[in-house]
Amino acid sequence: MKLNTKSRFIAFTTAAVAVTSLGLFVTGPAEARKPFTQDELAAQYKELLDTVKQGDELWHSAKLGKNGLACANCHPDAAAANPHTFPKFQPNLGQVIPLRDMINWCIQVPLEGQALDANSREMKALEAYAFYMHRGFKLKPGENTRQHPPVEVRSGPGYP
Ligand code: HEC
Repeated sequence: MKLNTKSRFIAFTTAAVAVTSLGLFVTGPAEARKPFTQDELAAQYKELLDTVKQGDELWHSAKLGKNGLACANCHPDAAAANPHTFPKFQPNLGQVIPLRDMINWCIQVPLEGQALDANSREMKALEAYAFYMHRGFKLKPGENTRQHPPVEVRSGPGYP
């Protein structure tokens, strides 16, 4: 018997439905995984803290650069790193960048070092540290923190 296109399509569809139903019958419907146990959650959190710790060590180490400086010399406790404001337009780079590009700029310029691979464990650790130190901050992508109104001077020459 010669099948025309339409009957071939019907035969194929019937076969596909039959195979799928058999599969479901044999294996049962897919089940959502069980909620994580307390131990699993604790292990996941420890993994995060280990990464933050690695970032903390890198942030305070001169090995990212070649002139003896560490990130912490200019950004103690990740101050003025403002991770929550990325991505944003970075005037010195002339484009919108994610945090990791700014970290690499600081590695290359103030630290005179070699840029890290954006997907490296070191870069993920530096990002994890910067964000962890800013936990609780509201995300403000695009906010230019250098354009805040000038700080009012309340002491100094001419002030009590
Ligand atoms: C010698 C001082 C110095 C060191 C050391 C330094 N930075 Fe910076 N960092 C700067 C300056 C200056 C800027 C502002 C650059 C600009 O916007 O033109 C900056 C900006 C940044 C920003 C963006 C802040 C914002 O609000 O946009 C991040 C993030 C950052 N640095 C991370 C790092 C990291 C990570 C390291 C270590 C790898 C590092 N910096 C080391 C001086 C430094």
